[in-house]
Amino acid sequence: MSFLTRKPALDALIVKQEGSDRLRRTLSWQHLVALGVGAIIGTGIYTLIGVGAGLAGPGVMLSFAIAGAVCVFAALAYAELAAMMPAAGSAYTYSYAALGEFLGWIVGFSLLLEYSVVCSAVAVGWSGYAVGFLEGLGVTLPAALTNGPHAGGVFNLPAVFIIAVVAGLLAIGTRESAAVNAVLVVAKILALALFVAIALPAFNAAHFDPFMPFGVWNERTDDAGDLVKIGILPAAAIIFFAFYGFEAVSTAAEESKRPERDLPIGIVGSMLICTAIYMVVAAAAIGAMPFETLAASKEPLAEVIRVLGNPTAAAAIAGVAVIALPTVILAFMYGQSRIFFVMARDGLLPQSLAKVNQRTGSPLTMTFATAIFVGAIAGFFPLNEIAALANAGTLAAFIAVAVSLIVLRLRAPDVPRPFKTPLWFLIAPAAIIGCLFLFWTLPVRTQVYFVIAHVIGLVLYFAWGFRKSRLAVP
Ligand code: ALA
Repeated sequence: MSFLTRKPALDALIVKQEGSDRLRRTLSWQHLVALGVGAIIGTGIYTLIGVGAGLAGPGVMLSFAIAGAVCVFAALAYAELAAMMPAAGSAYTYSYAALGEFLGWIVGFSLLLEYSVVCSAVAVGWSGYAVGFLEGLGVTLPAALTNGPHAGGVFNLPAVFIIAVVAGLLAIGTRESAAVNAVLVVAKILALALFVAIALPAFNAAHFDPFMPFGVWNERTDDAGDLVKIGILPAAAIIFFAFYGFEAVSTAAEESKRPERDLPIGIVGSMLICTAIYMVVAAAAIGAMPFETLAASKEPLAEVIRVLGNPTAAAAIAGVAVIALPTVILAFMYGQSRIFFVMARDGLLPQSLAKVNQRTGSPLTMTFATAIFVGAIAGFFPLNEIAALANAGTLAAFIAVAVSLIVLRLRAPDVPRPFKTPLWFLIAPAAIIGCLFLFWTLPVRTQVYFVIAHVIGLVLYFAWGFRKSRLAVP
């Protein structure tokens, strides 16, 4: 058997254009834009804006623009494959179909890394806001239980707590409901609007000078003696976190009324709206406060408003973050279990782990194993390192999607594509180059972790998947 054996039934994955067993086309482009904005806005803008400001200074606004542009290219590539193969498994499924089992496994492993580590990152971001929110209510948790060892604490209890809660919800069969999601999208945007309304009147142009104190790309030695990449581009590689989640739009391909028109509007539209929101929020935040203040806070947006003398509004913003951010964890943890499920169905992972509980409809063993892994990362590691690792996995998956698009365009040009990426021969390479570039600007330590994780992945593949997969044992 060749490593490059491809999923035999590409046809089985391809969207049915007609027929009774397809989903009803009920979603318009407005729905898709809302879906995208809801899935994208999370810890990236609420918390990582501070990390980005620490790396780039006021020029973090440019970092948002760069990361947003790379994501638009990747998202367009994603949209074509999602519309063509609206099957579970996301980038893993597309790569398996286009590139074969071996590369499919590597992408699947990247996705598992992405989806689980994103949960850890959002949980740590949530912890910052939850601690601030509780302090506003007069409850102060001991610092040893709200910080990992890197910050002088023992472990981040709130982050582990929220992961346990979300895993518990998933275990009893909770799904994100469209109605709850819609309310939370509005709440998240209103909280950001409230932030801008209060921060903007305190705008001080002097805070933007110098605009790029660390340049476009630079290095410095941190307290531990490690070399750290700083500047606009390294900040873009971290801020990239703020933009993904648009996969949610792609997965609604089969239900959109006019996918060829609505998908690009939904994806590019939600990305442009988020980029605009992010840049306005970043401008208001930096205008109101020296960027060092943002960089030092675990709840930067609430902190700015608090320092500006409005504790009630700060509590409202923190409250929205506390309620809305866990849905991001829910969505990614659920997505992770689905990818695991599809990989197990292909025989690349043990079936027993992916077994779905009849009563709750969720894979219990997998959910709890994920929660322990994700909780351990969230409990002990700093947000910037976790987010960087999640970004590495996501960038790898995006590269695989763009490569798959090119391969399938060349190999299967006549397969129906409800949505075709415009100028695909430019967009797909641009996505690949942009993602490679961001990957290269990630911290060296992250790149090393990424490689170690994939070496472990390869060992698992040869120890299990290669011999047990559906292709090996048809
Ligand atoms: N884009 C998502 C967030 O910022 C992952 O939380």
